[in-house]
This record gives sequence, C-alpha cells and structure tokens, in this order.
Amino acid sequence: MKNIKSDIKKSIMITKDFYLSESSYKNVINKVFNNSWQLITDTKSLGKIKQYPFYFLSNSINEPMILIKQNDIKCISNVCTHRAHLLVNNNCNKKNIKCKYHGRTFNLDGSLNHAPGFEDLENFPSKEDNLIDFDLLKWENFIFCGINPIINLQPIFDDINKRLPAFKFRELNYDKNNSQTFILNAHWALYCENYLEGFHVPFVHKGLNQDINYDTYETILLENGVLQIANSSKKHESIDKTDNIYAFYYWLFPNLMINIYHWGISINIIEPINKSKTKIKFLSYPLEGKSQPKNSHSSLDKVELEDQEVVLNVQNGIQSKSYSGVKFSPKYEQGLQHFHSILSKYL
Ligand code: FES
Ligand SMILES: [Fe+2]
Repeated sequence: MKNIKSDIKKSIMITKDFYLSESSYKNVINKVFNNSWQLITDTKSLGKIKQYPFYFLSNSINEPMILIKQNDIKCISNVCTHRAHLLVNNNCNKKNIKCKYHGRTFNLDGSLNHAPGFEDLENFPSKEDNLIDFDLLKWENFIFCGINPIINLQPIFDDINKRLPAFKFRELNYDKNNSQTFILNAHWALYCENYLEGFHVPFVHKGLNQDINYDTYETILLENGVLQIANSSKKHESIDKTDNIYAFYYWLFPNLMINIYHWGISINIIEPINKSKTKIKFLSYPLEGKSQPKNSHSSLDKVELEDQEVVLNVQNGIQSKSYSGVKFSPKYEQGLQHFHSILSKYL
C-alpha cells in the first residue's frame, strides 16, 4: 500500500498484488473485515424471534453468533463454552439455550445456567464459562454486529440523517421478492471500486444515463464512507423534500452500500468468499405503500447486471502481465482514491 498518496493528482492505484495474492486477501480479512461492522438484519424482519443464529461473514470469517431478542437486542456467541459444539441451528423462541452435546444450558443473556458433570470442578463456573458478547449497533431499524468493530460508521449515519431528516427509515420493509444474492467471480474490492465512481455511467448504463444528470453528479468524501449524489434529468419525485435528486448512493467502508431513492432504499452487502469470488447480497426495502420500480431501461436489476459484467471483465484484465496499474482520474475517481486511502490505514 505504499503508492497511496493523499493528493489524488499524484496517486496511482494500489498494486495489483492486492487483488491477486492469497496473503493480501487474508491480510484484508484479518485487518479490515475483522474490524468492521456488518449489517445482519433489521428489527422488523427479526419480529418476535428470540434467538436468531447466523455466521458473521459466513465465507471468510465464519464466526457463529446469535442475535438474542428480549427487551433489547444483543449479540452473543453461538459456540458452547464446554467443547465448542454449536448451540442454536435455527431461529427459535426458547427461553434458554441448551447444548445438544452434553446438556449445558445458558440463559438468554449468555450466562451459564447449568453444567452437568461439572459439580466437582473447583472455581467453576467462572466468567469464561459464559457465552461472550459481541458488539451490536442499531441505526434506524438496521442491526449491525462486529467482532472488533473499530471502523466507526456513525459519521455516515449522521450524514444520512442530516440530509434526509424526514425520510421514513422506520417505515421500510424488507421485500424478499425483489431481493437476491449473486455470486460473482471477482475480487470484492473491484465491485466496490466500480460502485465508487459514476464515471462509467454513460458508457455502461445507457438507460440510467438518460434518467440522471451526469454533469451534476457529485462525490462527497466522508469519514469511512463516500456519498455520491445523482440528480435527475427530468422532473422527479423528491426524496424527503430534496430537489430533483434521483438517488443518494452511500458506501460504508468496507463493504456496504445504502442507496436511497424516492420509493425506498436498496442495500448491497459485498461479502468476500475468496480472493476471486464474492457474494453480493442485494436487499430491497421499499417504503410502506411503494415498491421498487421494475422493467424499465434503468431498473436496478438491469443496472446491477451491467455493473457485474464490467467487474468480471476487470477481474480477467487485472491478471494480465501487461497490466501494472493506472492513475486515478482527479475529476471522477476521488471515491476510489478515498477507498484506497482508508484501506491503507488498516493494512
Ligand atoms: S459441548 Fe456443549 S455441553 Fe459439551
Ligand atoms: Fe454502475
């Protein structure tokens, strides 16, 4: 990460080793994703479920966790403190947690309740016999968890709430039918980089380009994030009283995208599977009484596939011996530069 300078006019991209080497990939998982917040679900989707097991970044870090809902929501380990059997396999509403292996039970706050066979052990139980807590953060209805989440997302949430004070985030509902998961044979960062510039819009998204005003496309750098604002080229339904804005595209370091439209929001979670394979979770959250527009020249599923195609092309191109790295466009690629400079802080 030596080539990253703060002055975009002098900078060149990180070396291609970053995208191709196994050790660079592992380094990013350890030093970036391990320190990140990940969006898990939202309070409405959780509903009345008391125990919600999941894996934190299931293909890379793979940490078993459980969301526990009582009066409040917390996140605890899903691994038994005896000999590491997994505790909860499916969503359930039980009042305690029982290990199937040797019958140890835990209260919903993670404290050990009963441990058959350990009656004679001295100094037992101790703190280590309880299920550990993981950090949890709520923004609006969204629930984030982390292992060691030192990457602060609050500046971005503050920016969203400041720009869109009346947007009814609490009225968003997860729409399963318009949500989908993609597996893309490309490095996760290439997908993010493509997202972080509107430079490609007139070339790649001919339909979308008719709907937005490319000349006024704006990129705003935030602490641990980037906001891109696309103005509408025609009269457009306003987003929380903003004037003629087509979309606010927020990227939250390292792998979350929150796109805000007049009809609701869409979210992309970019999960690394390995150094050349990535899972993209596309989640649709329309506002009450609205729905995600479909079947148009600029609909999100069309734009998504156009993006994936260019990212796949870059994945193949970046492996070429002829390619060594490019310079950023100072006019259009500040978002990428910002991504790389945040990355370099953690690597
Ligand atoms: S592993 Fe859970 S009780 Fe033994
Ligand atoms: Fe795009």
